[in-house]
Amino acid sequence: MSKISAPVVILNFKTYLESSGDKALELAKALESAAEESGVTMVAAPQAIDIYRIKAETNIPVLSQHIDAVSPGGHTGSNLFESFVAAEIDGSLLNHSECRMTLADIAEVVKKLDNEDLISCVCTNNVETSVAAATLNPTYVAVEPPELIGTGIPVSQAEPEVVEGTVSKVKAINKDIQVLCGAGISTGDDMAAAMDLGAEGVLLASGIIKAESPKDALLDLVSKI
Ligand code: G3P
Repeated sequence: MSKISAPVVILNFKTYLESSGDKALELAKALESAAEESGVTMVAAPQAIDIYRIKAETNIPVLSQHIDAVSPGGHTGSNLFESFVAAEIDGSLLNHSECRMTLADIAEVVKKLDNEDLISCVCTNNVETSVAAATLNPTYVAVEPPELIGTGIPVSQAEPEVVEGTVSKVKAINKDIQVLCGAGISTGDDMAAAMDLGAEGVLLASGIIKAESPKDALLDLVSKI
């Protein structure tokens, strides 16, 4: 599954208690049911330990939050690509601001994912790093200014130039790479503003994970696109 049709919503479960263990499965089911009702593709990015159960009990695409650029062998504590493939992931986030990687390691894992026809979503923090990421030809570049992450202040309104700049520079390198944006996104207005700036979807977390009803929050998110 190397392509998902736009628009897309990717929910990064991070390490919130509200999106861990049994609650990770509940949240994945909320994503599944919001996707069915809205017709918008919704993707889960749970912690590694929750992937297997979510894959087994839902039908939504599942990304890992990170993969290490290591080969099988002596790498205690690492996230091995081959193990995620065995768990039947659909792809992975890479280089999230909370889990940065070197450019060489991003390139290596993007290539491994591509070889297996899996999704690569490389996170970036500004226009310049988005350009570097685009040269690696991932499925997605997801730009997220770190200072807005978790604040509830949407990037699409606070720093629209970062989204527009990323879209225009990434598309100039490879028009097939889809650009997402994230940080502070939670409402239908936020997502509509992101799409107006040229983004093909959003990568988000706290606004949905901490909502009283994540499913209702997801339906609101996609209500204006
Ligand atoms: O990966 C998504 C993320 O970093 C944005 O977080 O909580 O601002 O939606 P949040």
